[in-house]
Amino acid sequence: MKCLTNCSQILTLKGAWKKDGRNLTPDDLGIIEDASLVCDHEKILWVGASCELPSEYKKVETLDMQGQVITPELVDSHTHLVFGGNRASEYAMRLNGADYQEIAKAGGGILSTMKATNEASKEELFETACDRIERLYSYGIGTIEIKSGYGLNIDKERELTLIIDKLKKKFSPRVQIFNTFMPAHAIPKNFQSGAQYLEQVVYPLLNELAPLGVIDAVDIFHEEGYFGFDDTKKLFLECRKLGLKVKIHADEFGDNGGAELACEFDALSADHLLCTGKKGIEALSKSPTVSTLLPGTGFFLGKPQANARALLDAGAKVAIGSDYNPGSCHWDNLLKIASISAPQYRMNQCELWAAITMNAASALGFRNQGALIEGLTPRFSRFNYSSIDEITYHW
Ligand code: NIG
Ligand code: FE
Repeated sequence: MKCLTNCSQILTLKGAWKKDGRNLTPDDLGIIEDASLVCDHEKILWVGASCELPSEYKKVETLDMQGQVITPELVDSHTHLVFGGNRASEYAMRLNGADYQEIAKAGGGILSTMKATNEASKEELFETACDRIERLYSYGIGTIEIKSGYGLNIDKERELTLIIDKLKKKFSPRVQIFNTFMPAHAIPKNFQSGAQYLEQVVYPLLNELAPLGVIDAVDIFHEEGYFGFDDTKKLFLECRKLGLKVKIHADEFGDNGGAELACEFDALSADHLLCTGKKGIEALSKSPTVSTLLPGTGFFLGKPQANARALLDAGAKVAIGSDYNPGSCHWDNLLKIASISAPQYRMNQCELWAAITMNAASALGFRNQGALIEGLTPRFSRFNYSSIDEITYHW
């Protein structure tokens, strides 16, 4: 058992927790000044103003936080951080007028990272991923979702899922890693259709790996030119049979029913949502499925952003992720991405903090973390500032 003392502030998100991360106001932040927190490895036992510390905890070993701020742990619920090579040239091409989808059609895009990833050894992929995870950790991110999806053949996709599993074991419990199976990321040129690729690569591998317990969820790029409605539905039905949770890249370039499909299958999250219209927003607002916004991608590609305010006002549960990947968003700092986006999204301060902590954890099915209140798992981030206002203020 430990007692963290001398925190200038603790952001508890107590009110936000009670409201399941929806319809939040600044009052739901639950900031405690001059605060302490008592926990053991599994649970938070007490949080409050230091002057009110119950006598039973007065003899507990203390950790002096030296006036720092404690928040619920930052969670990046959407990354593709195991990949080979880079696509810096595509960023430049876009500056000079090319479009993401045109670049992909001309042989760039996900398929070019597929080539670089297949050329990289498993040791190299593991080592570069370790460096990336450490960097994210230095930003205050303690839970990270990682998707496979740049192998795009049975052997390399198996390797990628097992690399993520190895990363999970190496970093646990300091960094909690969530392993998302996403070979349905693009259709390699040697397949005639998404359906054919799913039959020949995705389903056999899914059935091989699911019993090993290494897959935490399954994701798919539901988009024109990638996987269609029927493909996605079939994959989700297959996952249902196997008892696996699903996620979806939805409505990134067009409104094609991805959000509604996510809700129909109780997906953990529907991500991107740049083009989601009224029906999708309505479905998300009534569903446990988290709406995960990835504004870094909109900025990186120069695309219009998701209608965050409409989602928030409808009562959807909104998270923000980085989408860190080599092509559509090579910016990995969730905190900076969220800080620059919140004013554009017209999010209030509690909506912003819930989006990168509790709602992001919920997008991974972690329902026991995300607020600093008694009984929850003690996963928190620590910042060398004296108020939470400063965390998103300083660049
Ligand atoms: O989330 N949309 C699909 N996957 C990534 C892009 C990956 C890439 O361009 O390499 C995304 O934006
Ligand atoms: Fe993505």
